[in-house]
Amino acid sequence: MEEDRLIEIFKWLHQHPELGMEERQTTEYIRRILTENSVRLLETGLETGLIAELGTGKAPTVALRADMDALPVQEATGLPYASVNPGVMHACGHDFHSACMLGAALLLKEREDTLPGTVKVIFQPSEEVNRGSALMVSTGLLDDVQLFLSGHTYPWYPAGFLGIRPGPVMAAADRFIVRIKGKGCHAAHPENGDDPIPALVAVITAFQTIISRSTDPFDSAVVSITRVEAGNTWNVIPESAEMEGTLRAMTKTVRDGIHRRMEQMAADTAKAYGCEAVVEFERGPDPVVNDAGICERAADTARQLGMRAEVNPPTMIAEDFSEYLRLAPGAMFRVGTGGSYDNHHPSFTADPSALFPAARFFATLAIQELDHLRDSNQM
Ligand code: NI
Repeated sequence: MEEDRLIEIFKWLHQHPELGMEERQTTEYIRRILTENSVRLLETGLETGLIAELGTGKAPTVALRADMDALPVQEATGLPYASVNPGVMHACGHDFHSACMLGAALLLKEREDTLPGTVKVIFQPSEEVNRGSALMVSTGLLDDVQLFLSGHTYPWYPAGFLGIRPGPVMAAADRFIVRIKGKGCHAAHPENGDDPIPALVAVITAFQTIISRSTDPFDSAVVSITRVEAGNTWNVIPESAEMEGTLRAMTKTVRDGIHRRMEQMAADTAKAYGCEAVVEFERGPDPVVNDAGICERAADTARQLGMRAEVNPPTMIAEDFSEYLRLAPGAMFRVGTGGSYDNHHPSFTADPSALFPAARFFATLAIQELDHLRDSNQM
């Protein structure tokens, strides 16, 4: 696997972004390169996404995971290989992830005969809307995986840097909708109704105390209200009001505690205003919790390869990588990709020079983890 060739692949992927569940061209492109290099592909039965397999086909088995989807963003990087698809852009670096794990697969292919087990390389569709990982898991093809590894582009470290942090690194993210039912009436005679608007305002104010008054100060969590809606004219008190937002937490206990607190606060506050409140939750991904042993060994691997390993800060952003961690332990690392803009920004860029070292890091770590699993089985 030549570095120049890998950068070419990355640039092609960057130029041809596709939204979640529409990654047909991307899937075809990656499939063609893997097939040309005689890499085995597993039959997923899915329209987009791929799972490649290298090595003995027997235990121990580890997995490398990339995601492939882009965002509905109009690219503003001015790069010579900018998106050719209007309104769609690889603004989160999933093109980098796909190229990186493709590179790792091809590096592993070069030494396939010596692999002490199996490496499955996952090219997952639709991470941005948190659907793809559950689909990949539902194929059953990952049931035998003993350890999952993944990486994410990180603009705040330059190329050659890795962020490796044990424990919770990314948040659980749930969506909530609060619906308040009151009694509408003429705005000139509010005494004839139960106005849901002051009730909603009181619930919003009450929610501001969930983190400050009901959450352990040593735990991290967020409640953000992002949409508020009620009424449609000036002289009618509406029947109902609603709001929605997101809650984020790093542990299951905190997450569940906030759910209960929100339900209780909304119901009791609304009741004081003569209204009824219902909270609906749409559960998103679990938190991503990195295995400490893997992180320690990964930092060693990084140093052996001349990379800089740092302990990156955790984030309240969510990742559906956590779905794989229900099957087996794993870790997700930050891959320094430089640039001056955050992920999801129209000017986000990933430094191509970060690519080959990252691919080599994941290939090397996969082999070292196979060795580690084999050794620990023999003990
Ligand atoms: Ni992303």
